Amino acid sequence: MSSFSKKIISWQKINGRNNLPWQTKSPYHVWISEIMLQQTQVKTVIPYFHKFINSFPSVRSLAKSNLDDVLAHWSGLGYYNRAKNIYLSSKIILEKHNGSIPDNYHELLDLPGIGESTAGAIMSLAFDKSGVILDGNVKRVLLRTSGNKSPINLSKTQKDLKKFATELLPKENFNSYSQGIMDLGSLICTPTNPECGKCPVKRKCVSFDLGLQNIIPFKKTKSQMKEKSINWILISSKDKVLLKRNDTKGIWQNLWLFPNENNFNQKKLSFLEKKETLPSMTHNLSHRKLSISIEKYFLKDKDKLSIDRRGYIWVNKTESVKMGVPKPVKTILENYL
Ligand code: ADE
Repeated sequence: MSSFSKKIISWQKINGRNNLPWQTKSPYHVWISEIMLQQTQVKTVIPYFHKFINSFPSVRSLAKSNLDDVLAHWSGLGYYNRAKNIYLSSKIILEKHNGSIPDNYHELLDLPGIGESTAGAIMSLAFDKSGVILDGNVKRVLLRTSGNKSPINLSKTQKDLKKFATELLPKENFNSYSQGIMDLGSLICTPTNPECGKCPVKRKCVSFDLGLQNIIPFKKTKSQMKEKSINWILISSKDKVLLKRNDTKGIWQNLWLFPNENNFNQKKLSFLEKKETLPSMTHNLSHRKLSISIEKYFLKDKDKLSIDRRGYIWVNKTESVKMGVPKPVKTILENYL
């Protein structure tokens, strides 16, 4: 075993994170947490994970639920395809694998929402078998260790990273090693001001040797994120607000949003009673910057507004938090209802 992996394993046992709520030895818990952690930080995931496992304690309970309920538990977490894939996977796991998460890399890869790194994470963390994790933290540790100055977004860099990560794998203690290299990236080998003095593998690190920690990972050239504007119409009546299910493909498909001007034209809005423009807000997605403006309308008698019952729902604040809504809708409901 390389002394790199040995050092990481010993360090993890004493200094790593060993009390995360998904460190229960349940492959189901590991799977759900790894999907949540794909694009979201540990501290954000923890409360979502608890609520999710409380409501869906097993693969079977998840497979027997419905997509709306699963999306509601994802509300605010972002990247909602993850929730849809978890739901689809639970049905496959129940039918094809008798309700047990497969302990086979290729069978894991066949499940919706599981890519190479997540399959590697589940193999090592849930089953203590060999598996390569390459999340953002691990990539930074490996690029710095090898002194690799290639821009991280190039596919050649990704290929080199995978090869290097595979070479460093231990022969046992796969769980502690995977957790350890992630913990090292998160706690010591941080994006700025890494605490190299505390690093168990500083003697193996080209960046530490040459003082390159602050230039690696090499920054990709900043491409402007595309901007998109959204104009929402918040129609309230007494304690209720009108939400519309988003059935358009793309971001936030199947989630509940406020209607927009395509749903209510000026003529339809003209008999609504009072109007206020709420402060505009921005919301960043991975590939887009959203500028959101919100017009608030009041309506005395909500039954006066003709709507298609299937796609719309009137909800109060308590009901709205149980719906699958994206973060900006959640923020608006919390602040302006
Ligand atoms: N990022 C991805 N998986 C993780 C895990 N199991 N613990 C901490 N951070 C992670």
